[in-house]
Amino acid sequence: MSLRLPDSGAAVLPDGRRVAPSATRNAEAIRDVLVAAAPARGRALELASGTGQHAAILAQALPGLDWQPTDRDPDNLASIAAWAAWSGAANLRPARVLDAGSAGWGRAEAPCALVLAVNLLHLVSAEVAQRVVAEAAAALAPGGVLAVYGPFLRDGRTTSDGDAAFDAALRAQDPAIGYKDAAWVQGRMTAAGLAPRAPVAMPANNLFLIADRPG
Ligand SMILES: C[S@@+](CC[C@H](N)C(=O)[O-])C[C@H]1O[C@@H](n2cnc3c(N)ncnc32)[C@H](O)[C@@H]1O
Repeated sequence: MSLRLPDSGAAVLPDGRRVAPSATRNAEAIRDVLVAAAPARGRALELASGTGQHAAILAQALPGLDWQPTDRDPDNLASIAAWAAWSGAANLRPARVLDAGSAGWGRAEAPCALVLAVNLLHLVSAEVAQRVVAEAAAALAPGGVLAVYGPFLRDGRTTSDGDAAFDAALRAQDPAIGYKDAAWVQGRMTAAGLAPRAPVAMPANNLFLIADRPG
């Protein structure tokens, strides 16, 4: 099912790069956190890369990581490729299709130094979100990092009128999806053998939930 999202009308540049306003707004804040939090070397697997804006900027900012963008939707691959060409980053691999909610991809993608998911978990069911975390944990090498960015509930509640409206709009489209509670996601990380760090507060009430695979 295709969701109606605030960024569904992303602009398309003449070279094929799609531009999502939310990715433009949050890219630098995400980059700054990951530069400090991610391992310096190894394989980075980005889930749900979307337009590819983040892949282009993050591969440039983290040159020791071999950056693999992916998305469930094959229609996103052309824009990700256009962003990769724009960035010129030598460490950015061609994007490929990966359904992060499917079973078994974690072992196939191991060993990763970093698994990143930006603005994915609120768009999938709790069952799929749990699988995303478990498969990501299986993909991580010892010392690897799982980084999950997005809007989350705190103690079961949204934290602004805008978040309440967005969460309600998602649940109206599909009752199984919507914001997940930050503590619940951290609980899934712990259950998958990871050690969650303290949540990082991000602009627009978002959070970065980061967890380490013990070395
Ligand atoms: C809101 S966009 C976020 C894109 C990008 N991470 C960003 O923040 O700009 C959500 C993305 O999740 C992808 N997606 C949804 N379900 C997925 C799944 N099960 N596995 C991988 N990608 C998925 C969609 O195709 C879409 O590109």
